[in-house]
Amino acid sequence: MRDMPPLVSGNIDLLRGHPSTRLLATSQIADAAAVVLNAPSLPVDSYTVIRHPLHYASEMGNRDVRGEIARWAGERYGLREEIGLERILMTSGASFGLMNVLMHCTSPVTGYTKQAFLISPAYFLAAKVFEDAGFTNKLTAISSTATSIDLPSLRRHLHHLNATTPDIPLSAGLVPISHDGAAPKRIYKYVLYCVPTYSNPTGQTWDLATRRELVQLAREFDVLLVSDDVYDFLGNEGDKCALGEDGRLLPRLVTVDREIMEEEGELEQGAGFTVSNCSFSKLLGPGLRCGWIETATSVLAEQIGHGGANISGGNSSHFVSTLIHHVVKTRAIDAIITTLRQTYTSRSGAIAAAIRAHLPAGTEICGGHGGFFMWVGLPPGYDARKIVRMAEEQGEEGGGVRVMSGDMTECPGERNRMGWGDRWVRITVSYCEEEEAVEGVRRLGAAVERWRAGPGCL
Ligand SMILES: Cc1ncc(COP(=O)(O)O)c(C=O)c1O
Repeated sequence: MRDMPPLVSGNIDLLRGHPSTRLLATSQIADAAAVVLNAPSLPVDSYTVIRHPLHYASEMGNRDVRGEIARWAGERYGLREEIGLERILMTSGASFGLMNVLMHCTSPVTGYTKQAFLISPAYFLAAKVFEDAGFTNKLTAISSTATSIDLPSLRRHLHHLNATTPDIPLSAGLVPISHDGAAPKRIYKYVLYCVPTYSNPTGQTWDLATRRELVQLAREFDVLLVSDDVYDFLGNEGDKCALGEDGRLLPRLVTVDREIMEEEGELEQGAGFTVSNCSFSKLLGPGLRCGWIETATSVLAEQIGHGGANISGGNSSHFVSTLIHHVVKTRAIDAIITTLRQTYTSRSGAIAAAIRAHLPAGTEICGGHGGFFMWVGLPPGYDARKIVRMAEEQGEEGGGVRVMSGDMTECPGERNRMGWGDRWVRITVSYCEEEEAVEGVRRLGAAVERWRAGPGCL
């Protein structure tokens, strides 16, 4: 969990990326618990498919839960083809999902996996998962634009690494990546982490051409693309950034991957190059610790799902997933999402207006179309690092405000410093109520004024 110190009372927190407590699905989960635990006939354990909610789970998670999530997600994305439940794996949320993907599909320590790429500015806590997995000093930042990423730079890096880093053959007996007696695991030479829709921290969304080109690049260079698709359903009302021309949500990388595999006749055998890492944290509540992974075919979902810990302990989100099953099956989740979207639409409008009113002319606002965050750039010459620190201190007019310095969104490693902290900050839409958030932006504006009045400013 995030290791941030508690705020001084009276301060406003526009840093924390949580939903407001009142928006958590408390009553729906309480109702689900009553229904699930009092059901006249709880599932009889069939060992491989459906288990009692308080029993060990099967490794992939209950079949009915996975099937319902597949149907519901397919509806929300407007998919023409049903998502086969064999492509769905239950997880303990996106953070643990990412950890398990890296554990089961990459091998940085042996040198088989050569490098990881993070889209920068990055979701700052994802970098720590990569470091745990052995990618320290093997992380490269690829910068993003409003609707895309620097694909030419990614291609250059991949060419260079292919030319300069030796290939380690899998047949060389790489113990950590081959099961005794089982088929060798599908391990990738590279891995790239991204949030293509309503990104953390920028709130921006990649266009379809970028998604297609990236999957093609991944196929060419053996890159596993892990996308946190955790904000896809949280577009602001009326927003079109994340919609295709047909009005459906833009296809995820996993959908693009599957389409290409189908064209190439690879669906029977292939593992694909994508993992869609999804979560109920942003929709129902992060304390539930439940999410799911969707992969292009069953190969990766099963590879990740049948890891040793799942074999020993069963799927890790089992009980909670049976409660969520009820909320999804009754589609109570859709009403919850509608409320979230209405709330965040109104808040992000109010925050954008406050930014225009209280921050200097020329301040750039990115995002604000969906998801949890807005990315705000002070005009050149303003020292965002100092202003963020000054904003946390109480000004004469009252308490302080906390926002995230762009420094925290850098990819770790000296070479990867992009200078985001010079003038960019992240503002969270999801946590504070509208009035409080607006007051927080006003306090940030007051800190800018204090900075302007001090020594060493413009
Ligand atoms: C992009 C992204 N991925 C993952 C997470 C964490 O998700 P989970 O709670 O499912 O672990 C967050 C939370 O802030 C996030 O913004």
